[in-house]
Amino acid sequence: MTNPESNEPPVKPEPDAGIPRHIAVIMDGNGRWATSRGQSRIYGHRKGAESVREIIRACAERDVACLTLFAFSSENWRRPQREVRLLMELFISVLEKDIDSLVNNGIRLKIIGDLERFGTRINKLIKKAELRTADNDRMQLLIAANYGGQWDIAQASRKLAARAVSGDIKPEDIDEQMLAAELATGIHPDPDLFIRTGGEKRISNFLIWQLAYTELYFTDVLWPDFRAADLDRAIDWYAGRERRYGQTSEQLSRADHA
Ligand code: IPE
Ligand code: IPE
Ligand code: MG
Repeated sequence: MTNPESNEPPVKPEPDAGIPRHIAVIMDGNGRWATSRGQSRIYGHRKGAESVREIIRACAERDVACLTLFAFSSENWRRPQREVRLLMELFISVLEKDIDSLVNNGIRLKIIGDLERFGTRINKLIKKAELRTADNDRMQLLIAANYGGQWDIAQASRKLAARAVSGDIKPEDIDEQMLAAELATGIHPDPDLFIRTGGEKRISNFLIWQLAYTELYFTDVLWPDFRAADLDRAIDWYAGRERRYGQTSEQLSRADHA
């Protein structure tokens, strides 16, 4: 899935068959974690930010090439105004204070989603943070903010439609690879492992196209409690999966011994 127009570096080859190249996470359960302790929901989001830091570090140490974290969905604007405002403040503070550690750890940051809704202050901070990490190549970190999987497919379709209208491509040239290259995840391979914390078993409009063949791991652990040991449990589970992509087990074992 290469996009010749992209200036992003190609993702490193898989270092170890048991380690997913790309992990995508729905970080759910902050609110329940806090309310069960008699605290406000935002306290849970702040605690959740500590898990974010630990999981980013742990993924880099385990040679994961790409980590995508769902931070704020296109539907989360429907939450009480006060929670949305405090989440935006938390986002700003992370963009201001956590970038040094990404720079020092070789992590390249990109925010994916419909960023127009965030306004100029947050957009400037995003640009600055992305630029500061642009030369890093140890791990790609994608943060999905005001992201929706349906939005992503629609925006990719709009780009292809514009290219068709301008004569750059013909409608009949459009195939899965061409559309995938225009998605917000761009050149990055589809996630190998999806993790959702917090007990719900749904995709909640996350990477709906890109999860087509991803291994799906659900855990009841609430996000503020999800730490490196929990990540290792998910990776161990992933290592035991047989990814058949429509083939049979027998075909795969024959290919292994060929
Ligand atoms: C996920 O935790 C964080 C965001 C959606 C921003 P929640 O806030 O959804 O926590 P629960 O699901 O209510 O416990
Ligand atoms: C999904 O969690 C979005 C993020 C974690 C950012 P939600 O808590 O918003 O999902 P639903 O509403 O329970 O499906
Ligand atoms: Mg939730």
